[in-house]
Amino acid sequence: MSFFVEFMRNPMTVGAVQASGSALAEVATATVPATGSPVVVELGPGTGAFTAPVQRRLAVSGGRHIAIELNPRFATHLATRYPAVDVVTANAAALREVLAQRGVDQVDVVISGLPWAAFDQKLRHDVLSEVVAVMHPAGVFTTFAYVHARWSPPAQRLLRSLQSRFEEVVVSRTVWRNLPPALVYFCRRPITVTAEQRYESVVAASGSAGGQASR
Ligand SMILES: C[S@@+](CC[C@H](N)C(=O)[O-])C[C@H]1O[C@@H](n2cnc3c(N)ncnc32)[C@H](O)[C@@H]1O
Repeated sequence: MSFFVEFMRNPMTVGAVQASGSALAEVATATVPATGSPVVVELGPGTGAFTAPVQRRLAVSGGRHIAIELNPRFATHLATRYPAVDVVTANAAALREVLAQRGVDQVDVVISGLPWAAFDQKLRHDVLSEVVAVMHPAGVFTTFAYVHARWSPPAQRLLRSLQSRFEEVVVSRTVWRNLPPALVYFCRRPITVTAEQRYESVVAASGSAGGQASR
């Protein structure tokens, strides 16, 4: 299975010329608990750069590992290589549906290898909304960005989207041993209020502020 050949076939959906290295994989998957029985979802696993360290950690904790991959060739390769992983050929934007089919309603860890820079606004919005909807309140979402593109408009849009959906977004140190060097975003405390609820709380707060001002 060649990552590069798949990139040449589908440059926009594969989004990178080579798979992530082991140094980046260790940082991105460090959030997987080695105790309890966590449910871990991987989005865009490709050839499995993050799959191996997730499986190593779950071997201790005995958790569940679901991987959602759009490319059927990657999915077939992954399912053969990691029989303990529940590999689903699907769009990450169908996350809730995939989990519902498996009777899973909450996830402890979501690890994304998705090529955000290639996503339009709607797909980014849809995928992140699905992630927030399924996250356990104490869960964690990790995703990565390349350092050279950190200040580009797509990377900045992704960061703003993350900050609007999670109370905490922590950026890792630079993983220089990845090619290209990368950063990992650790996102915690998903914000589950709807836009309508947020609007109502703003209106209520401004109403009470007005009341104080008039006294
Ligand atoms: C940059 S590669 C990362 C692969 C791997 N996680 C790694 O770090 O080496 C992006 C992966 O996301 C997959 N992908 C792209 N769009 C997707 C989508 N909407 N849903 C699920 N997977 C998607 C691609 O097929 C590819 O395997």
